[in-house]
Amino acid sequence: MSAPKIIALAGSLRKESFNQKLINEAARFALQTGAEVEVIQLNELDIPLFNEDIEAQGTPADAQRLKDKLRSADGILLASPEYNGSITAPLKNAIDWASRTEQGAVPAFRNKVVALFATSPGGLGGLRGLNHVRDILSGIGSLVLADQLAVPSAFSVFDDNGQVSDPEIADKVSSLAHQLVSVASKLK
Ligand SMILES: Cc1cc2nc3c(=O)[nH]c(=O)nc-3n(C[C@H](O)[C@H](O)[C@H](O)COP(=O)(O)O)c2cc1C
Repeated sequence: MSAPKIIALAGSLRKESFNQKLINEAARFALQTGAEVEVIQLNELDIPLFNEDIEAQGTPADAQRLKDKLRSADGILLASPEYNGSITAPLKNAIDWASRTEQGAVPAFRNKVVALFATSPGGLGGLRGLNHVRDILSGIGSLVLADQLAVPSAFSVFDDNGQVSDPEIADKVSSLAHQLVSVASKLK
């Protein structure tokens, strides 16, 4: 069986994003399984706010690129920062663009296995926002793993190289990343 293709994505545009660091770590652990893993940084993509008038003139190149990459993936490692108890605008915007289906094409999120991660400086680690992301993705056909990981106190989680310094947290990140790869390969 060929290795599953995994996309790793975080819903932040911030240069020093904790969620980007967390998903980079999840991607690193997923790579160790032999999976094919690609990290996508939202702040490297030029994706306008979704507007059907823009879409009518043609999906912007980076939005199309993101959609094509998600469509060709078997699984998604997703870190969702929490804003006001919910999903960030850039992540929702990316999902909205990618969810649009050209005639005859397969919906990008359908049957994709997704593992949800979050981290925040707060005590719940972004847990409340994950319920919303789970709802959105389940509603468009993704198979969101029951297990998820919200890491509190984000300021003290990463070392200077952006790696998770606490071995217990690293184990949890690794375990969820491995679970994603395992389920994605079984469903491939
Ligand atoms: C508009 C706004 C709303 C926020 N709301 C929450 C929140 O509801 N819960 C929380 O834990 N942190 C909240 N935060 C703090 C973020 O968790 C923090 O900025 C975090 O670093 C964002 O993730 P990032 O580092 O990946 O960009 C909020 C931040 C902003 C800017």
